[in-house]
Amino acid sequence: MEDHHQPVHIAIIMDGNGRWASDRGLPRVQGHERGAESVREVTRDCARRGLGHLTLYAFSSENWRRPREETEMLMGLLEHYLVSERKEIMENQVQFSGIGRLNELPERVQKELNKTTEMSRSNTGLHLRLALNYGSRGEIRDAVVRLARQLSEGKLQEDDVTEESVRDFLYDPGMPDPDLLIRTAGEYRLSNFLLWQASYAEIWVTPTLWPDFGKEDLDEAIRAYSSRERRYGGIAPRSSP
Ligand code: IPE
Ligand code: IPE
Ligand code: MG
Repeated sequence: MEDHHQPVHIAIIMDGNGRWASDRGLPRVQGHERGAESVREVTRDCARRGLGHLTLYAFSSENWRRPREETEMLMGLLEHYLVSERKEIMENQVQFSGIGRLNELPERVQKELNKTTEMSRSNTGLHLRLALNYGSRGEIRDAVVRLARQLSEGKLQEDDVTEESVRDFLYDPGMPDPDLLIRTAGEYRLSNFLLWQASYAEIWVTPTLWPDFGKEDLDEAIRAYSSRERRYGGIAPRSSP
């Protein structure tokens, strides 16, 4: 029995830009540039579908391990994206924000990030979050430290610490858990993405590389999601005879 429910929040691990470029004998930068085009197409499509939340993993806290040439190029591309996409973001009523250790990003990126976030704050459509310098263990660590401080200062009592109140200490307490988690480029791992939030996310992995990912792939993922049964540890409801 299909129940055709729709996701409210889709999170995507956008992987495979490098492979897309090397398959064509191109420098990795071109893969990242094409990846930015997929970001535009997917965001536009999600906004038009009336999706509530889209979270895109764009740069992990572990991605600093890459050669400096690549991280600098990615930061440059990000800075450019944050300016060039403003018009599109405003036209589509997208509320934009970042999650991650944003204060460790280069100053110039932070400046454009803040500007785009501020500018789109009162938009009423899709909430687009870019995970930048994001690592889930780092997020949980930061949350634990802040929570422990409140406990020791007596601002919070141990009995008040619930799963929901833990969420208040994550980077964005207003972000609902993802319903559908997509990973492109065929790898079956989370790579430190949304470990707390994705506890019951439906996972969909596609071999398609991120620069080749578009509307049709998103459609396929959403269709697969709609036909799944989410049980949250319970048992399947019996369909009527
Ligand atoms: C994803 O593409 C983008 C980032 C992680 C910044 P990759 O750069 O990881 O591409 P592959 O995995 O090398 O193909
Ligand atoms: C995950 O991709 C991070 C992003 C998509 C930003 P990676 O390419 O960094 O992941 P691993 O290294 O294959 O686990
Ligand atoms: Mg990769």
